[in-house]
Amino acid sequence: LICEWVDALLAQMTPEEKAGQLCQLFSFTPNDTSITDEIAAGRVGAILVVRDPEELDRLQRVAVEQSRLGIPLLFGFDVIHGLRTILPVPIAMAASWDMEIIEAGQAVAAAEARAIGLHWTFAPMVDIARDPRWGRMIEGAGEDPYLGSAVASAQVRGFQGSEIGAAGRVISGPKHFAGYGAGLGGRDYDEAEISDSELRNIYLPPFKAAIDAGAGNIMCAYMTLNGVPATGNNWLITDVLKGEWGFSGFTVSDANSAYDLATHNFAKDTADAAVRALNAGLDMEMSLSFKNACYATLPQSLSVGAVSEEKLNDAVRRVLAMKVRMGLFENPYADHSQVNTVLDNPVHRDVAREAAEKSFVLLRNDIGTLPLDRSKIGSLAVIGPLADSARDTLGPWVFDHDLAETVTVLQGIKSKVGEEIEVAYSPGVTMIPRLNPSFFDALPGLEPAARVEVDDDAEIRRAIMLVNEADCAILVLGEAQNMIGEAASRSSLDLPGRQQDLLEAVIATGKPVILLLMSARPLDLKSAAPDAILKIWYPGTQGGTAVANTLFGDAIPGGKLPFNWVRSIGQVPLPYARMKTHQPKERENRYWDEQGTPLYPFGFGLSYVTFTYDNLRVSSPSIALGDTLTILVDVTNTGACTAAEVAQLYIHQRYGSAARPIRELKGFKRLTLSPGETQTAEFVLTAQDLIYWSATVRDWVQDETIIDVMVGGDSAATLSASFEVRAP
Ligand code: IFM
Repeated sequence: LICEWVDALLAQMTPEEKAGQLCQLFSFTPNDTSITDEIAAGRVGAILVVRDPEELDRLQRVAVEQSRLGIPLLFGFDVIHGLRTILPVPIAMAASWDMEIIEAGQAVAAAEARAIGLHWTFAPMVDIARDPRWGRMIEGAGEDPYLGSAVASAQVRGFQGSEIGAAGRVISGPKHFAGYGAGLGGRDYDEAEISDSELRNIYLPPFKAAIDAGAGNIMCAYMTLNGVPATGNNWLITDVLKGEWGFSGFTVSDANSAYDLATHNFAKDTADAAVRALNAGLDMEMSLSFKNACYATLPQSLSVGAVSEEKLNDAVRRVLAMKVRMGLFENPYADHSQVNTVLDNPVHRDVAREAAEKSFVLLRNDIGTLPLDRSKIGSLAVIGPLADSARDTLGPWVFDHDLAETVTVLQGIKSKVGEEIEVAYSPGVTMIPRLNPSFFDALPGLEPAARVEVDDDAEIRRAIMLVNEADCAILVLGEAQNMIGEAASRSSLDLPGRQQDLLEAVIATGKPVILLLMSARPLDLKSAAPDAILKIWYPGTQGGTAVANTLFGDAIPGGKLPFNWVRSIGQVPLPYARMKTHQPKERENRYWDEQGTPLYPFGFGLSYVTFTYDNLRVSSPSIALGDTLTILVDVTNTGACTAAEVAQLYIHQRYGSAARPIRELKGFKRLTLSPGETQTAEFVLTAQDLIYWSATVRDWVQDETIIDVMVGGDSAATLSASFEVRAP
């Protein structure tokens, strides 16, 4: 029915109107008459950036009431980790390994976005990131395709609900297709050179998972993949995405990335860029302004036969079908009566707090410093430039937040302890600004946080005085929110500015020191060894409350790292799923001046309790190709409080048509266990889990082989068993 309806509409459209449906424009200024004129002329199909409900309404009225065919606009925006209620950043959500909270979090984001009148989010980012220099690793789920795929589908379900057009949900647009995370040197936008085997086995699976979960849109990446810009890559978009995977939604470019096919020295000029993008399968072009809209040249290219009517119609059909499925032809205008109720919903803040608590990763707690015992503590010194910075607590990619309702770490601790514990505070040092300010810093909402300028030497002395007078020091260090994200790659993993000096000086006092790391990459603390380290990422609106609950044991950390934490930048890249070398025993000594292992392995995270793993059972010593196998292991909480543990299953294939990594994640379960409780974690390994894309066969294969399985609380797990895969 949708098809017939869309075809009937298509039959009435001029080539200019068809090209118009494929044009998405940024709109930064309210009442921008130039944009209004383009919409009225039928030259715009979608808008991004506008979030003022009245302005959205006004633009929609122009489209519906003034354009010849009255086709409604689609309104998109980057609702990455919340709109008004800000959830922890995406990599933090992934660190929860909790698909329910991830789905619930994005459902909150969707509800708020839809309430103000948005239809579509450019999220989730499902790019695999194996180089922590790359700033955008914060927006993804880390280095692993299995975890990345699970997180991608949970996010799509959260944004879209059960179907496109569901009430209170938005279209999800996974991005950036594909390989954006593999940019040379970790530099944003640089080209990626990825073998077919890596693409198929590592970089593409999260996109496939997102599409299988029903994602309605896919955003094509900016950069060049194996010599061809991703936005003009016919193999990627038409052969793989729309062909092999049968993607029926619509594709969109990244900002100006169709126009930039010429900048990339790929297309001859703007018209050629449009022809090559459309022919490669790019349906909609996102442009910074109408003058960059190369798709406006498509009618001319159609008239000279450079693009076919069929190709153009296919793209327009996909966009119109999405508008129909969103119900925009019947209800083009948002119902604003509920905006404030939805944005102020306390349940949303509860989800944000719970998500933050579940995302924290306890990296070190050598002498049981955490949780703090309030009966034994009279005073705390909260130190660090990020301890009371609301803007940094939220992380990048937020625009419509309310700083007044953001709980900083200092505020969270103060309200938790009330008058009972004395809390002193010093920023310790100034958070240095970025060396190269980004164009992002100029965007409303993304401005860098206002900094307290201090004399670092004097303030370190004052901080040390406060620590000396307190029972315990809580340091909040890391990277400011604009030091990570788009256009925020780094050439170092050191703590920026004088924070390392501050850390070492505080440790030298001999007081118990708890380090809270606000950052989304591994940081190199040199040999500084605080008593406890908790990775709090950028924890969002309720971050300070979640931190305080965790410090005092009302929430127990259960998050696990979604990446290998390197010891120093020279080890990058160091994914856990690497191939075995001919000298496997030398794995620890790959450098003469550095160890070969990570500081903390992928999947690692401590708790306030300990867990044991026993009784590993494999349902059969041998299975036939195509068959399924069950793996069981008993997990016991040997501690004194209820806590969560993420049990993980890794496999290793001993031989086959191609070499396979030393270990690969193939299952996980987040279990909540009361003191002394044992639960059995069950993992089902299907043929799909054992199939991989083989570089020798140049296709998907399952080998006759022996598979080792390793089960435990991180990727260094040692409890193992094996089984054979044989011919049927
Ligand atoms: O969605 C983003 C993308 O991730 C980077 N370029 C701009 C787009 C729209 O804001």
